[in-house]
Amino acid sequence: MSLGSILESSIPLLQTSSFSAAIRSIEHIEQLIELEPGEFAAINDVGDKTVGEPGGLDEVLADDSSTWWLQEISRARNSLVWHGSGRAVSAAYCQIAGPGCPYSSDHFRFGIFMIPARYTYPSHVHGADEIYIPVAGRGEWAMDEGEFRVWPLNEVVPIVSMRPHAIRTGDEPLLTLYTWTGDISFDRYRYTQST
Ligand SMILES: [Fe+2]
Repeated sequence: MSLGSILESSIPLLQTSSFSAAIRSIEHIEQLIELEPGEFAAINDVGDKTVGEPGGLDEVLADDSSTWWLQEISRARNSLVWHGSGRAVSAAYCQIAGPGCPYSSDHFRFGIFMIPARYTYPSHVHGADEIYIPVAGRGEWAMDEGEFRVWPLNEVVPIVSMRPHAIRTGDEPLLTLYTWTGDISFDRYRYTQST
């Protein structure tokens, strides 16, 4: 298992999107692939607390372990360092690339985000352009505080800077990749509606 292979394996999915953030993500990933792997997200630059492996990971990895992405996550499992989202405490993420990470960038974040079953990550905005790629389980996205709709696995969810978006799960948890490009600070991060 290498970090490079996780990064590299996301490129084909990103290439399916015409969203400019996908292009920028690919450019970052191509630079990062060559670097030596380190511990995943050993450094977290926003002060979120380290947490244990999130519940439901067994379930989603068993869901369809034949896909290349899930295989890579399964192989990397013991190296992953999870953080509880300070913005939605039941959701955990592993930041693979970003400020202070072994794969460091001030303009790019890349990671894995795990949302438990029957949970709503509230509508929020941030300065970064974001891409989600749901890779296991089942997730629904709502844009502009509108209706939720189920997003097919392995299909890019493009979120332009400052566009309100929320994520919801049903009986299954969700495992999704994410990238942030552009303004990756949390300076403009805020919720747009109460839960
Ligand atoms: Fe977001």
